[in-house]
Amino acid sequence: MIPDKAPKEDVFHAGGALKKNAHVPNFENYKELYLKSIENPDEFWGDIAKDFYWKSKHTGQFLDYNFDVKKGEIYIKCMEGATTNICYNVLDRNVHERKLGDKVAFYWEGNEPGDVMKVTYRELLQQVCQFANVLKSQGVKKGDRVSIYMPMVVELVVAMLACVRIGAVHSIVFAGFSAESLCDRILNSQCSLLITADGFYRGDKLINLKVIADDALQKCRDRSFPVQRCIMLKHLSKEVEAAPLVSQSPPAKRTCPDLQQEKQKDGVKKIRPVPQVPWNPEVDQCWRSLLSGASDECEPEWCDSEDPLFILYTSGSTGKPKGVLHTVSGYMLYVATTFKLVFDYQPDDVYWCTADIGWITGHSYITYGPLANGATSVLFEGLPTYPDVSRMWEIVDKYQVTKFYTAPTAIRLLMKYGSEPVQKYNRESLKVLGTVGEPINPEAWQWYYSVVGEKRCPVVDTFWQTETGGHVVTLILSIVPAILNESGEELEGPCEGYLVFKQPWPGVMRTVYGNHQRFETTYFKKFPGYYVSGDGCRRDKDGYYWITGRMDDMLNVSGHLLSTAEVESALGEHAAVAEAAVVSRLHPVKGESLYCFVTLTDGVGFNRTLEAELKKQGKIMRRVLRKIARNEQDLGDLSTLADSSVIEQLFLNRCCGA
Ligand code: WTA
Repeated sequence: MIPDKAPKEDVFHAGGALKKNAHVPNFENYKELYLKSIENPDEFWGDIAKDFYWKSKHTGQFLDYNFDVKKGEIYIKCMEGATTNICYNVLDRNVHERKLGDKVAFYWEGNEPGDVMKVTYRELLQQVCQFANVLKSQGVKKGDRVSIYMPMVVELVVAMLACVRIGAVHSIVFAGFSAESLCDRILNSQCSLLITADGFYRGDKLINLKVIADDALQKCRDRSFPVQRCIMLKHLSKEVEAAPLVSQSPPAKRTCPDLQQEKQKDGVKKIRPVPQVPWNPEVDQCWRSLLSGASDECEPEWCDSEDPLFILYTSGSTGKPKGVLHTVSGYMLYVATTFKLVFDYQPDDVYWCTADIGWITGHSYITYGPLANGATSVLFEGLPTYPDVSRMWEIVDKYQVTKFYTAPTAIRLLMKYGSEPVQKYNRESLKVLGTVGEPINPEAWQWYYSVVGEKRCPVVDTFWQTETGGHVVTLILSIVPAILNESGEELEGPCEGYLVFKQPWPGVMRTVYGNHQRFETTYFKKFPGYYVSGDGCRRDKDGYYWITGRMDDMLNVSGHLLSTAEVESALGEHAAVAEAAVVSRLHPVKGESLYCFVTLTDGVGFNRTLEAELKKQGKIMRRVLRKIARNEQDLGDLSTLADSSVIEQLFLNRCCGA
């Protein structure tokens, strides 16, 4: 929570029902667990590791590291010498050792109510093995990078797990990003293959994913990096028979033939056009046709603990996104354990995290953490406001969701519609509520706690970052936080300053892909000996940590990090702009919004046309706007206010009609 409006002194206790079988029933128990994780990590994590499958065991200490730039290169190594495979641990182990084959792994709920499916652990394993064989047949090998640009569908999980099964490194790009962003990420990680889908709907809006993907591949070609293969899932036309696509040449480009028909399901649902999909037979292949011939047996590739697992890009303060690299064993143990303890996971839970897998929250707490525990999750493709603002609670009741994890932005958005849409549904199944992505203000917390959870469900506010792999400030293990002043001195007792961590934990990132120096400079230079989170923090007299927001050049719009430099450089590309400075401004729904100061070149006057152009300026700016617009399509007023009488034109990029 943020301490902006004097935090209330109220103390909220977890309900009795939860406490009975809780993994961490009380504070004493928590302190014991925490101390053990700090004082004896080998034993603490060693016990946890016993539940997982290791092809070979690790030698030496659990964590080996240097966190101090003054002593040499920064490194973090966890369980060196051990070999394992995450896909094996989250699927085969559940199916074969824990006999969870028939348990539902995901209830998939599409954008359109009624568009549903479910997949069991056995079915997921089978599909993953088949797709892993497809990847192999396409020449993908251990260590190769694969770019995934897909909507929230089960096949996205299949694609990521198929990569890790064969030791390939996935780089998932959020399906709301532009062709330019996708191209940049493909180039940075030198991906050999792209996996995408025809398109998807967000609310009423059709996103022509394949068109954007093609555009990105063309940009890659223009920059001398031809990606030879692209696999496309027919998502919007999934009921169309998976007829193999016959390569035709010429013409090189044609429309994927069986996608030209109207999507028509049972009479109740809307009839929507499927996209016209451009098709390049030299590069494109159809997911289902490839899969239909593939064997469902695939021996996992046994990987070293510190082999790369995935790359995920996050904004950097220089404006260039950083490829955060996570590795196998530490990440696996860390997300599995934090998922289990923070949400107090129990075998009969139905868990729902509303994030997109394109962000770290989805990686750690939709795919890896829940599956490692054999959990049943809801995978939701749609929006909280479509077809109406009760959608979330309708889904909670439909699947009897017990643990629910969302972002403060979504809470603030829904709060605006009052409690009636929530109370239309009974939500009796709910036990734990979670938040992530940005500070939650007291009003939103109170509403979430009282209206959504009816004062019955504890709220876990989880602070963490793409870089930290999993939760670091909430219920925490192996985490030693500190608060520093500007001179780098550790502050005691109640205080406010820079939030840092004094030692690594298994799930922390290992490097910035292809740029270890940037890793050291970004996180370890400012205060040698510490991992610097970039966030500010206040500690109160009870020892609680209150995250106050970013202290660097980043801002957090709706839980998505942006860098001011990124937006400034986009504005600066416009011919009329001499200089631009971007700062953050508090926003009632989004948390923060962009506030842009623009100096125009000589002789240029400010008017509404220019203002509109600036808003659209550059691909990066469009991406930013798309981020801002995410989940807010019914409120999508991205209006700009301007005072055209001054030379230094000021405009406020105000979003969502606040
Ligand atoms: C912010 C998202 C306050 C913070 C998991 C952090 C939060 C950045 C919280 C990372 C929270 C995340 N309270 N602030 N509970 N969770 N943040 O990499 O500024 O997309 O540094 O990871 O989000 O964003 P990222």
